[in-house]
Amino acid sequence: MKKCYIFDFLISHAKIYGFIFPSSDIYGGLNAVYDYGPYGIELKNNIKKFWWKSMTFLHENIVGIDSSILMHSNIWNASGHIDEFNELLIDNKDSKKRYRPDILIKEYVEKNFSKNPKKKEDILFRLSKSLKKKDFLDLRILIDELNICDPISKTKNWTKIRYFNMMFKIKNENEKDLYLRPETAQGIFCNFHNVKKSNRMKIPFGIAQIGKSFRNEIFSKKFLFRMREFEQMEMQFFILPEEEKKWYEYWKNIRLKWHLFFFGDKKNYKLRNHDHLAHYASYGTDIEYKFPFGFQEIEGIHSRRDFDLKKHEFFSKKKFKVYESKKNYIPYVIETSLGLDRIFLAIFFSSLKKEKLENGNIRIVLKLPHYLSPIKAAIFPLVKKDGLPEIAKKIFNNFKIKHKLIYDQKESIGKLYRRQDAIGTPICFTVDYETKETNTVTMRYRDSMKQKRVHIKNISKIIQKETGLEKNLKKLSHLI
Ligand code: GAP
Repeated sequence: MKKCYIFDFLISHAKIYGFIFPSSDIYGGLNAVYDYGPYGIELKNNIKKFWWKSMTFLHENIVGIDSSILMHSNIWNASGHIDEFNELLIDNKDSKKRYRPDILIKEYVEKNFSKNPKKKEDILFRLSKSLKKKDFLDLRILIDELNICDPISKTKNWTKIRYFNMMFKIKNENEKDLYLRPETAQGIFCNFHNVKKSNRMKIPFGIAQIGKSFRNEIFSKKFLFRMREFEQMEMQFFILPEEEKKWYEYWKNIRLKWHLFFFGDKKNYKLRNHDHLAHYASYGTDIEYKFPFGFQEIEGIHSRRDFDLKKHEFFSKKKFKVYESKKNYIPYVIETSLGLDRIFLAIFFSSLKKEKLENGNIRIVLKLPHYLSPIKAAIFPLVKKDGLPEIAKKIFNNFKIKHKLIYDQKESIGKLYRRQDAIGTPICFTVDYETKETNTVTMRYRDSMKQKRVHIKNISKIIQKETGLEKNLKKLSHLI
């Protein structure tokens, strides 16, 4: 299947089966904003749980917080986001559409010079040099030289290249302007002392947080990849300044291992050192994943040194120095920053399969890792009569508190299996006539479609063994 069809298929599967809906769907949608449906939120919560536990349970020196989205506007002055959190933009005068010129050039080069690596490399080198020197004129000339047209109007009627700030400003009658936070990290920096004191933390230690961030992105039509409202899973690790390189390498290594544990497939991952660093960073590496539209950033690892704490010390007039290891210093910070929606997209994409069965039929199956599946097991009666629904309902009620289960009797058994395949349920249990005689049910595996009989009293143990998170956290703890 062509890549663009795969992506369209993924978006439609996510909507039909209740994973992702366009926001404000009944009003025609809202660009780059999405809602999570009933199965989407379960999958997303399972990813969060896994990340949260792998940070705050497996590392005894990492604790979590949940800071507010609205913060004092001085925070954004101190952090540099008001002055520096800018992106380049260019407009096409005919279509009135807005683009990021660097992305326009990169996508053009990817599409047209993939068979000419020398030319591709030359153009990307020039792009990187112009970005570094902030030479917008050269970027504009490059767009002209490459004859890049607007994909909508098909014209080259471009404006000048300029900067715009990516934060959403909220107008407030009585207060200074407020901003929706563009990263969760600042809530962590501002609570550095609160957490350190209340939890008696000693350097090195980390603070983890999962929460919403907002950016005024130019629409890229990449589904969950680039949204205006999205979630980040960030961890700031506070260290001795002279240990910067050591911890930077440590966290790069740990985070890559975490991703490989999640997906298993090394060839879908790349590490890329930043050639264009964020205003706060002294080192930066992107962990890139092979999305349907190519390798793209899924997580950023940065050394922010003492940039943020120093700025907050200056703006808030509060001391950020610590006295530890017999000296007074402002700690350095290594940050790991993962986009929750991006990893959701990567897992959804890598799990969605079309399989040809022996009888020639196609089945669509979401081969999620079992511990992430939205529903852990489904319980069906073979037919809707002769007391079978009552037995199946009793099994569901007995185990529903321990496991996320589903009871269904709305269709024929074949269709019920297909539906569970499509939402990624790893096992199904069917109550049939033999159940009445032997207290056993048919158990069917999603991936192999193999079936066997199991006793009702073993159902909960089997679900736990097949889908439990703990077993996987334990395996991960041996790797990191
Ligand atoms: N605190 C550092 C920071 O925010 P970043 O590289 O700008 O760094 C970190 O963002 C991660 O957040 C990215 O690797 C990506 O996974 C996610 N992210 C950033 N912008 C996003 C967007 N518009 N939509 C979805 N995820 C986004």
